[in-house]
Amino acid sequence: MIDDQTVVSLTAFVRDAFGATVTEPPADALAPMVRLLERETRLRRWLPAWIVRRLDAGFARSNTVHPDTARALFAIVRAAQPRIVFETGTYWGFSTSILAAAVREAQGTAVHTFDLYPKAGAHIAQALRPWIVVHRGQPSVASMPPVLETTVPDVFFQDSRHDYDGVRDELILVAPRMPANAVILFHDWVDAQVRRAAMDHLPAADGWRLTRIAGEDPQQLGVAWRRAARAESAL
Ligand SMILES: C[S@@+](CC[C@H](N)C(=O)[O-])C[C@H]1O[C@@H](n2cnc3c(N)ncnc32)[C@H](O)[C@@H]1O
Repeated sequence: MIDDQTVVSLTAFVRDAFGATVTEPPADALAPMVRLLERETRLRRWLPAWIVRRLDAGFARSNTVHPDTARALFAIVRAAQPRIVFETGTYWGFSTSILAAAVREAQGTAVHTFDLYPKAGAHIAQALRPWIVVHRGQPSVASMPPVLETTVPDVFFQDSRHDYDGVRDELILVAPRMPANAVILFHDWVDAQVRRAAMDHLPAADGWRLTRIAGEDPQQLGVAWRRAARAESAL
C-alpha cells in the first residue's frame, strides 16, 4: 500500500495544486553552496576525499538536499505563498536558504529552522538571514513547541530524523496547527518509514493528499498538501 502512490512532475504539481508555474531559485540562495562545491572540487584534484572532508566540515555535502530537490523546494514554496515556513534539519543551511529565498519572493515573513546541531546554519546566505530564525542546539520536539505557541506554519519541510518515530513525533506537533491550505514536504521519501509515518498521521479525512515529486534526487521528495474547500472547487 505505501508503495502504491502517485508520482507527479514538478510542473504538474505546482500547476494543479496552486495554478502556478515553476520558478527558479535566485543565485544568492545557491551561491554559498555553489562556492563550497567548487572549492571542494578544486581540492579533490590534489587530495583524497577523506582529507578534503577534514579541511572543512561544510564539504560533507552528502547531507544537503540534491540540487534538483532544492529547485523543487523553491518552486513549491514560491507557489504556495506561505507567510511562515518551518524546517527541521538545518544542517549548514542550504535548504534553509532556498526556503528563505522563496519566502522572500512570496513576500512572506520567516523560515523557522530547527536543528540540534550547535553550528547549524553556518552557510546560510548573508542576504537571506533577515528571513530566517535558527533554533539550534535542541531536538526539534523540544524547540518547536514554544514557537508553535505563537506561530502557525503554512509550509513544513521535514528533513531531520527519517525514522518512523522521528517523523511521527514532528508531524504530531506541527500538522494539527497547520491551516486549511497547508503543505508538508518530506526529504528521504524513498525511506518507507518516512512514507508510513506520513500516511498514518496525515489522514485523507483531514484533507491531506500525498504524492512524490518526480526528480533526479535518489532520496526523493514527498509532499502532503491540502487546500481549503473554496480553492478546491477552483482546481
Ligand atoms: C540531512 S541533514 C539536513 C540537511 C538540510 N536540510 C539541507 O538540505 O541542507 C539532517 C540534520 O538534522 C539534524 N537532526 C537530526 N535529528 C534531529 C532532531 N531530533 N532534532 C533536530 N534536528 C535534528 C542533524 O543535526 C542534521 O543537521
